[in-house]
Amino acid sequence: VTSHSDPNFQKLQDWYTAHALNLNMRHMFEADKERFSKLSLNLKTEDGDILLDFSKNLITDEVMKMLVDLAKSRGIEAAREKMFTGEKINFTEGRAVLHVALRNRSNKPIMVGGKDVMPEVNKVLEKMKGFCHRVRSGEWKGYTGKAITDVVNVGIGGSDLGPLMVTEALKPYSKGGPRVWFVSNIDGTHIAKTLARLNAETTLFIVASKTFTTQETITNAESAKEWFLEHAKDVTAVAKHFVALSTNGVIKIHFWKEFGTSHEYIFPLFLFLFYSLRQLTSPSLSSSGFENFEKLLSGAHWMDNHFRTAPLDKNAPVLLALLGIWYINFFHAETHAMLPYDQYMHRFTAYFQQGDMESNGKYITNHGKRVNYHTGPIVWGEPGTNGQHAFYQLIHQGTRMVPSDFLIPAQTQHPIRNNLHHKILLANFLAQTEALMKGKTTEEARKELEASGLSGEELEKILPHKVFQGNRPTNSIIFKKLSPYTLGALIGERSQCFSSLTATDIKKSIKLLLVELGKQLAKKIEPELKDAAEVHSHDSSTNGLINFLKKNFA
Ligand code: F6P
Repeated sequence: VTSHSDPNFQKLQDWYTAHALNLNMRHMFEADKERFSKLSLNLKTEDGDILLDFSKNLITDEVMKMLVDLAKSRGIEAAREKMFTGEKINFTEGRAVLHVALRNRSNKPIMVGGKDVMPEVNKVLEKMKGFCHRVRSGEWKGYTGKAITDVVNVGIGGSDLGPLMVTEALKPYSKGGPRVWFVSNIDGTHIAKTLARLNAETTLFIVASKTFTTQETITNAESAKEWFLEHAKDVTAVAKHFVALSTNGVIKIHFWKEFGTSHEYIFPLFLFLFYSLRQLTSPSLSSSGFENFEKLLSGAHWMDNHFRTAPLDKNAPVLLALLGIWYINFFHAETHAMLPYDQYMHRFTAYFQQGDMESNGKYITNHGKRVNYHTGPIVWGEPGTNGQHAFYQLIHQGTRMVPSDFLIPAQTQHPIRNNLHHKILLANFLAQTEALMKGKTTEEARKELEASGLSGEELEKILPHKVFQGNRPTNSIIFKKLSPYTLGALIGERSQCFSSLTATDIKKSIKLLLVELGKQLAKKIEPELKDAAEVHSHDSSTNGLINFLKKNFA
């Protein structure tokens, strides 16, 4: 049975054909006061609650049930168990997909090919810890006896985006480690401009590559070494300034022997740790330190457990994946926007884009057949509120459906000016999700125009531009604060499951329309965030989000 011939898929298709055009979120919220509480999850982690509100989607209880049935008949529970128990589910490379072992804080055995991999995972983590301590404490010395001030991660794709994202996200947890740099692009500008700011005596390079065959990484590492030797003029000094993160294979060891790095500082990256956070040595070395790295692993482990044990209809990663299937396969949505309202998360979308598009951007099934349905979406996005002034217009009034995930912490790392900035950020977050759901009807737009003094032909001309269809799907994910633990949980959450004159006219309407609706709603919400009183003036989802935020401000 292929996905499409699965009776549960057909059921969804029939339901979609018969009812989907009539789905109206505004009406559904009006008709069911419990919609928010039914279609949201409050995940109680050790580091505060994480709220997943998926009520602002084009779904009913019946659709969710059919989607969960589809997950069951596609065998997701068995596949999940295979992943957690070390089966070689990545059959094209003959590997288990065991990123979960790296963060298995329970230390319960994980068997791969009859052997528990945990002792080896723990050994490497211990080795990383010792290495981090030596570098951060200044005990690790460069070739002239000076401590390390700068660490450069040389890698690309998954060997770059994960550590870069985490390093940026955890900057507020900085406790004075070395500065961290990232070089990925083969464009010589990237390495040349980085090296120009460094001192060879105090710089350590971490060369990260799963395969050690990646041309960009090898070339950048060799260029770094050439630069280094121009200063050090001594090949025996290479071992003090270059460490490797790779798989254990013989080729790599040979490569590194020739390169001049001591065998002691080759950090085995297990073949099964294919997921993008594999070489977390760089971020843990950076300002935030190994302790915070361990907290990040604990958060990811919490989410792994949730994913493994929660029933499918209460399982955050599963629900998010099913909503993706609903929009991609039935509504034919092409893209998925990921919109973090936190400046520290500015590389979060790029990290997920790689994980999702590289993993799911494939048209051949496990049975070697070409699929006749869509697989993963185009994942994209920028942090809020920057995106609001760039591409949100198309999400609100464009011709395409862009399902979007909105993420925000209740508490900011920088409550400057009596939390003024964060209150405005929160109000924008809430206003955007509310506006995308509700839109603005012709009647509402007409009333507003009349109130502003417009009438007659002038009013009729502008009216259609002021109408927002709404009914655009969003998920809201709110967490207490962006801590190492919570970041780990957020990473866990998504990584499991598997978008002349006319131009001038359109441009004008952008400022006029989008900015206006967002501003209007945000202005209404801002005063509502001032005290602790429960809010009831919106749809149950927006009320629920505001009230969750208020509880988590303290
Ligand atoms: O783009 C292919 C790819 O293998 C990615 O999966 C990977 O993240 C990147 O290249 C870098 O690979 P490696 O870690 O082997 O250098």
